[in-house]
Amino acid sequence: MEAITNKPFRKICKQYGADILITEFIASDALSRDIKDSIIKMDFEEMERPLGIQIFGNNAESLIKATQIAEKENPDFIDINWGCPVKKIAGKGCGSGIMNNIPKMIELTKAVVDASNIPVTVKTRLGYCEESKPIVEIAERLQDVGIQALSIHGRTRSQMYKGEADWTLISEVKNNQRMSIPIFGNGDIDSAEKAIEYKNKYGVDGILIGRATIGNPFIFLQTKELLEGKSPTIIPIAEKVKVCKYHLDQLIELRGEKNAILEMRKTYSGYFKGLSNFKPHRIKLVSSTDYKEIQNTFEDILELYSNN
Ligand SMILES: Cc1cc2nc3c(=O)[nH]c(=O)nc-3n(C[C@H](O)[C@H](O)[C@H](O)COP(=O)(O)O)c2cc1C
Repeated sequence: MEAITNKPFRKICKQYGADILITEFIASDALSRDIKDSIIKMDFEEMERPLGIQIFGNNAESLIKATQIAEKENPDFIDINWGCPVKKIAGKGCGSGIMNNIPKMIELTKAVVDASNIPVTVKTRLGYCEESKPIVEIAERLQDVGIQALSIHGRTRSQMYKGEADWTLISEVKNNQRMSIPIFGNGDIDSAEKAIEYKNKYGVDGILIGRATIGNPFIFLQTKELLEGKSPTIIPIAEKVKVCKYHLDQLIELRGEKNAILEMRKTYSGYFKGLSNFKPHRIKLVSSTDYKEIQNTFEDILELYSNN
């Protein structure tokens, strides 16, 4: 996820049990033009494997070039994003914007597969809009041009993030006799319990968890525990504070203090969800621009909520 699954956060997710990691999406145009921010987004550590570098684009030339550049980083796979619904991306025919031109989607995917020496996977949606959800056919055609796994977010491009994700079509793809590649389901998984329930109900090979991981990498540990028949660990507040501090410090190393402090703001509600009378602390965390003040707030939280 853009501006979320940077290296520090991916490493934390890995430590808590995420099986497969994928970078933020990276514009193939920017990669081919050697833009520094895009190059940095490809960086990962050995402990993160298996890891995919995710690219997006709307033309074969830049997608092929980006594939070759990304491959030099030696990831385990290249993931193509045909799922992003955001106007500035989809409006240019990137991400799920391509879903109103399926032949082009297949042609560009084939170009990437042909250019790549490592597995290529795809992340996409059900279709372009309510009237057009051809994901079963798309999945077959993507498999036919050589992708090695498919992740499906159970919404259309037009839906953006509205309504509820529909997993029935994801399940139809998985149950299609023609399909042999792994199918991963995605959309609205917000607890370990729901992850297991959906995996069993819809029979997918794996589950992608997005928004519910923000400030909550612990969801991976809890899901694994449930999968093994154990009760999910309730994470003590001291551990949450420790992880949150580590997240901030690692992000400062990557992005510099000013940027990291701003970027961390979207994570605090997740880390400290459910704490009573937390509002004054949250306001401090999301308004402070001073590292020391943030550290002091962490100390206050520890002192006040350690028994939680
Ligand atoms: C802030 C934000 C950034 C995202 N960036 C990406 C991205 O870079 N690549 C991608 O495949 N999906 C991205 N997504 C979509 C998520 O991966 C996921 O498909 C979507 O949020 C639905 O899953 P969820 O309900 O578990 O969050 C992003 C979502 C959000 C909210």
